[in-house]
Amino acid sequence: MLFPHIPHNSGIKKTKTTRVEAGDSPAQSEANNATDVRLDRIVHLLMEHATVVVSGTKIAQEISSNRSEVWRLIQQLCGLGVDVAGHPSTGYQLKSVPDLLLPEILAPILRGTIFDSLLHHFYKIGSTNTAAMAAAAEGAPEGTVFLAEEQTAGRGRGAHAWDSARSAGIYCSAVLRPPLPPSDVLVLSLAAGLAVRAAIEQINPRVSLDLKWPNDVLIAGKKVCGILTEMNAEATRVRYVVVGIGINVNHATFPKELQREATSLRLATGSEWSRVELTAALLKSLDREYRALVEQKDTRQSILRRFAEQSTWVRGKQVRIEENGSKVEGITEGLDDRGFLQVRTAQGLQTILSGTVRER
Ligand code: BTN
Repeated sequence: MLFPHIPHNSGIKKTKTTRVEAGDSPAQSEANNATDVRLDRIVHLLMEHATVVVSGTKIAQEISSNRSEVWRLIQQLCGLGVDVAGHPSTGYQLKSVPDLLLPEILAPILRGTIFDSLLHHFYKIGSTNTAAMAAAAEGAPEGTVFLAEEQTAGRGRGAHAWDSARSAGIYCSAVLRPPLPPSDVLVLSLAAGLAVRAAIEQINPRVSLDLKWPNDVLIAGKKVCGILTEMNAEATRVRYVVVGIGINVNHATFPKELQREATSLRLATGSEWSRVELTAALLKSLDREYRALVEQKDTRQSILRRFAEQSTWVRGKQVRIEENGSKVEGITEGLDDRGFLQVRTAQGLQTILSGTVRER
């Protein structure tokens, strides 16, 4: 939406919540969950016995199944990037600590943040945002996090799909219940972009990052992270917000149609990143930004100032913004005090509430 008469919070997507994962039938959801439990048990067993070979029979007993099913699940784990050596006749052993976003690995690192106790991990899910919105509607507390190795119906802004290749990216959605009016949620969303940038820089300060309003993170003009913020609100009060963050981490390539505009941390730096390390840094950094916003008075101004400082798009950029058939062209002239983008056009200064910003 490009015109100022639209309510302030309209840049943040309001979604009707559903119980079933987008893209998954109820039966498929059930099947995914059942597989998750067995994969989880196997990973735990192998981690508990990291220095020894665990027999297929023992694993089969643990998951109440048979050795050929164990073999099939081990193959699935290998496909997820888990480094397991072995064979049904010899048994199995982990060759390295798996880079899976498992709650028991992340929770101790996140101790003291709002995200340390309600982490939910899925090997495969429709969309972590859909799951988080449904959970929030059912009363999930603030700090609940949904993490997935793969999304089958990952959602982006503007009804776009989000490419969610298995074990390559971070797909993370956090439930927040900020004591803020709906008009402040855009600032929260900008803060999430700052948090992503800080997390990436903490791990590798040499990566040169840019923020594109409202909250894309770019490397050399290509998107490395997208954020989908959705909320459920009354006129003056937010009930809950889901901040969904997708980071392209270890993608070696992208589907053809994305190659011009997407990149990954691996493609940009030439080496693989630990998704566990980055997820922990991300949630810590989001915790810092969020707490400051809801607990300290002047944080909103600081977020707007830091976003403008860290973005080449907020000031002095020739842009074209399109949404729902409307088009605005002009030069960016900063953010207003609610976080909306100001653009100087031939017709005067316009306030952009949402839309896809492109350089012209
Ligand atoms: C964008 O279009 O830039 C936003 C992309 C947001 C993708 C993330 S991945 C985790 C969460 N689950 C989703 O379905 N979408 C968000």
